[in-house]
Amino acid sequence: MFGVKEKKRVKGSDTYVDDRIPEENTGIDDEGLPVIMETAALSVIYENDCAVRQVSLPIYDKKVTAFIGPSGCGKTTFLRALNRMHDLAPNVKVKGRVLLHGKDIYASGVDPVVIRRKIGMVFQKPTPFPTMSIYDNVIAGLKLVGIRKKSMLDDVVERSLKHSALWEEVKDRLKSPGGSLSGGQQQRLSIARALAVEPDVLLMDEPTSSLDPQSTTRIEELIELLKKEVTIAVVTHNMQQAARVSDYTAFMYLGEIVEFGHTEKLFTVPKKKKTEDYITGKFG
Ligand SMILES: Nc1ncnc2c1ncn2[C@@H]1O[C@H](COP(=O)(O)OP(=O)(O)OP(=O)(O)O)[C@@H](O)[C@H]1O
Ligand SMILES: [Mg+2]
Repeated sequence: MFGVKEKKRVKGSDTYVDDRIPEENTGIDDEGLPVIMETAALSVIYENDCAVRQVSLPIYDKKVTAFIGPSGCGKTTFLRALNRMHDLAPNVKVKGRVLLHGKDIYASGVDPVVIRRKIGMVFQKPTPFPTMSIYDNVIAGLKLVGIRKKSMLDDVVERSLKHSALWEEVKDRLKSPGGSLSGGQQQRLSIARALAVEPDVLLMDEPTSSLDPQSTTRIEELIELLKKEVTIAVVTHNMQQAARVSDYTAFMYLGEIVEFGHTEKLFTVPKKKKTEDYITGKFG
């Protein structure tokens, strides 16, 4: 459990681990709530710039956790560390631990590709392959893992598009290119693609920032529906959105978590002055 030497470099990556933090735990917090993910003293360093500083935080199972905070405070950097996206970039160091189901996703021998199937990501801008059909866009991730049986793929496409609330709008044009959809539809297609591999956790980085109010409402409704089956961590600049969609909120500032707690409490009776100043629009 505590067997890793301090600052031992994980083979083949820029990851360092800290042996004061357990590599495994039970996945239940002090109040008995199921924690699907947890970070322990997680830091992310670009060159010499520490963008995320010693963040220890639970992500509760089948709940929505919102991350708010001013531009540049480290929200995206933190989210990307949750599914090992920084592995793909040179000169980024990740320290501390990220536990999924009580096990460290950065432990040696863990395949980042497997982790990214369990922890999907949706980005700020919709990311469909524009010339690929709607159908092929949904199954892009499945093909990578070698699933090719047509009946199975048909089922996945229908299920994922229904889950992302896009099915009714596209069921008669599955062969049309992904790029022929509106921005809001493209974002729901990106969500369908992320859901197709049946992740346990879905990370969303400002998923509605490029969308009109109507599409934004659809995505917010979708988040509410999806949390019955998948845990969601969502970064947003829109505080009303965080208040509407999330169960828990983390307020980040200068790479640290200033306050974390039940969304309703954080927005009505914040514990920290800094949180109060931010949510009342005094800065940021
Ligand atoms: N690839 C990178 N290389 C070097 N520094 C980076 C890189 N990406 C982000 N940073 C820096 O890390 C800090 C945190 O950036 P990050 O993108 O995580 O902030 P953010 O909270 O998501 O901001 P925003 O709300 O504007 O999206 C910033 O100071 C940023 O300049
Ligand atoms: Mg960001």
